[in-house]
Amino acid sequence: MSAVLGSERTGEKKRLLSGMQPTGNGLLHLGNYEGALKPWVALQDQYEMFCFVADWHALTTLAGTGESIADASRAVVLDYLSAGLDPDRCAIFRQSKVTAHAELSTLLGMVTPVSWLERVPTYKEKRELVAEREHEAAVSYGLLGYPVLQAADILLYRAHAVPVGKDQAAHLELTREIARRFNHLYQTELFPTPQAVISEDTGVLPGLDADAGGKLRKMSKSYHNTILLTDSADTVAQKLKGAFTSPLKVRKDDPGVPEGCSVCQLRRLYDPSGYSAQWDECRSGARGCSQSKRETTEILNAVLDPIRARRAVYASDPAELERVLERGEEKARAFAETTMQKVRETMLLV
Ligand code: ADP
Ligand code: TRP
Repeated sequence: MSAVLGSERTGEKKRLLSGMQPTGNGLLHLGNYEGALKPWVALQDQYEMFCFVADWHALTTLAGTGESIADASRAVVLDYLSAGLDPDRCAIFRQSKVTAHAELSTLLGMVTPVSWLERVPTYKEKRELVAEREHEAAVSYGLLGYPVLQAADILLYRAHAVPVGKDQAAHLELTREIARRFNHLYQTELFPTPQAVISEDTGVLPGLDADAGGKLRKMSKSYHNTILLTDSADTVAQKLKGAFTSPLKVRKDDPGVPEGCSVCQLRRLYDPSGYSAQWDECRSGARGCSQSKRETTEILNAVLDPIRARRAVYASDPAELERVLERGEEKARAFAETTMQKVRETMLLV
């Protein structure tokens, strides 16, 4: 059986797959790190890992915009490696280099009711966004089919675990339904039902700004309120200087409201044992925003320093980056082909 499925080749470990889209020039931020990359890195010993760049998915919103998906994908890979993904323990690859993703997506599309896709909340949101930005005709078949391609990404590797943020829960549920429907229609157990690994304790990292109502919101490239993993120490200091704090704390001794201040919230997350003194002094007016910003800048730069050090190694050797991708893509293709042979047989195509 292992010769056919190829899954047992690698021993006892269960398989984990995850990925990100190379949107926003592919530059990942501290929220992506805390919510996704850091958990992936922590799981590297426990699972057989496949981490990829969903470059075709990015085209569901970027087709024709002139953005270089290839450059952005390389930037994502550099961030993966800088965050600590180890290419010896994790196959790192680009979706478009493993064309079996497209084949499986097409075949899964044959067993996926359109009504399931029209119900997906992210489709409804993105449809409005694209229609507003351009026009209704720009809402593509690719956008509707986004979750089918995502199901193919996951089922191709017969992944058991998929770590994703809460926003991806609906996509994961659809993947599970597609797997169950395929297995049922073809009376097979080919696809395991993948489990979403949603890290509750990571939570959502706040960005450096507030919304129109003065409330903090998540760090996201869509809000341009991020600290990028590629930011230099000086850039972090500059960004923190402009960060949203208590609007009524104008002078140092004005009382602040740490709960509504992005700098204090970041301080709490990154300095769980030391933040309460800073919060108390912010409230009482004993500590001003400038001091809090300087201290939080140092704390954030200490988190980013090891990431910067790993980046410097890979950035100075682009050929090594290519080798990492080639190795990852070779492994992914080999695994994917064993699944596809079985899928083609099961669907009576051979
Ligand atoms: P963005 O909101 O910047 O567009 P994505 O939606 O591409 O980010 O998210 C990629 C991954 O990073 C997802 O797994 C998502 O859950 C995680 N993520 C994004 N922003 C945050 C955040 N502020 N805090 C925690 N996790 C986040
Ligand atoms: N939709 C995911 C996101 O926007 C990216 C993605 C595509 C993905 N295919 C995947 C994530 C497969 C996990 C597994 O973040």
